[in-house]
Amino acid sequence: MSKTMQAGVVGAGLMGREIALVFALAGHRVRLHDQTEAALTAAMERLAAIIDKGIARGLFAEADRAALDRIAPTTDLADFADCAMVTEAVFESQEVKAAVFADLDRHCPADCIIASNTSTIPITVLASCVGEARRGRFIGTHYFSPVSRMPLVEVIPGHFTDPDVVEQVMGICSDLGKKPIRIKDVTGFAVNRLLHVLMIEAVRLVEEDVATPEDIDTACKLGLGHPMGPFELMDATTSSLCLQAQEIMHDAYGERFRPRPLLKARVRAGLVGGRGRPGWRKA
Ligand SMILES: NC(=O)c1ccc[n+]([C@@H]2O[C@H](COP(=O)([O-])OP(=O)(O)OC[C@H]3O[C@@H](n4cnc5c(N)ncnc54)[C@H](O)[C@@H]3O)[C@@H](O)[C@H]2O)c1
Repeated sequence: MSKTMQAGVVGAGLMGREIALVFALAGHRVRLHDQTEAALTAAMERLAAIIDKGIARGLFAEADRAALDRIAPTTDLADFADCAMVTEAVFESQEVKAAVFADLDRHCPADCIIASNTSTIPITVLASCVGEARRGRFIGTHYFSPVSRMPLVEVIPGHFTDPDVVEQVMGICSDLGKKPIRIKDVTGFAVNRLLHVLMIEAVRLVEEDVATPEDIDTACKLGLGHPMGPFELMDATTSSLCLQAQEIMHDAYGERFRPRPLLKARVRAGLVGGRGRPGWRKA
């Protein structure tokens, strides 16, 4: 595979649009697909704002604006016929993803690599949505938000993934300026397993009146060197998403991932954080 390629991204939401941006910043041409023109317009506006803000903060150079011109938005997956690698970042639903993979399998060249950014669905299960011939070229690439700033990618081979494809994808991720690590296809991969152990214990500390959410965030930042405390992180990503992840891991691993009653109660009460909603740290 040449150093620059025609890449594709399906889903222009929070993750997909920035995955498209990091491919484009690395010099690749990118087709960015979503279901509506409105979603694509909003994604491109958001990316322009990310570049503007990044330049103002010294994170991006003026020349990085050209990356936006390398992203071609489309609502038609037939345009993916020239893609060498496609990353899927649609809703976290097996059904929705299955339909996307069946379409991609039809439209993409036989040697195109298909990668999923799923957080929770086993890669081997998703690989079964493409034909047998493609399964060796199907893999998980799990990015972290905000993708343009977080260097880690968990690279997850499924049962059928060809070892050469794993090496190729590790190389592509490195060339994007990311730090890829290879992870086995287990529920929650590695990072979410580590993160939710911390989050569950953080909520338990609040339940036991050991400390306030604010002080626990301070403890993690000033005592452990974390850039963000667990409650700030729950507010940013929403407590409902956090609960959903813990329920999936509780199902897979049992007691150690049982969500705390206080988290469940707060989600039921709508205190989930996110844009304009009260959370742990904001009224
Ligand atoms: N949000 C995170 O921090 C995070 C981190 C790692 C991985 N992920 C995973 O990334 C994926 C995307 O998450 P997100 O937070 O970007 O979601 P999001 O809701 O912001 O974006 C999903 C996008 O997919 C589009 N979409 C849905 N169905 C589609 C289809 N059939 N064809 C084309 N586009 C379609 C939607 O219109 C939307 O723009 C999920 O699998 C999620 O689990 C999310």
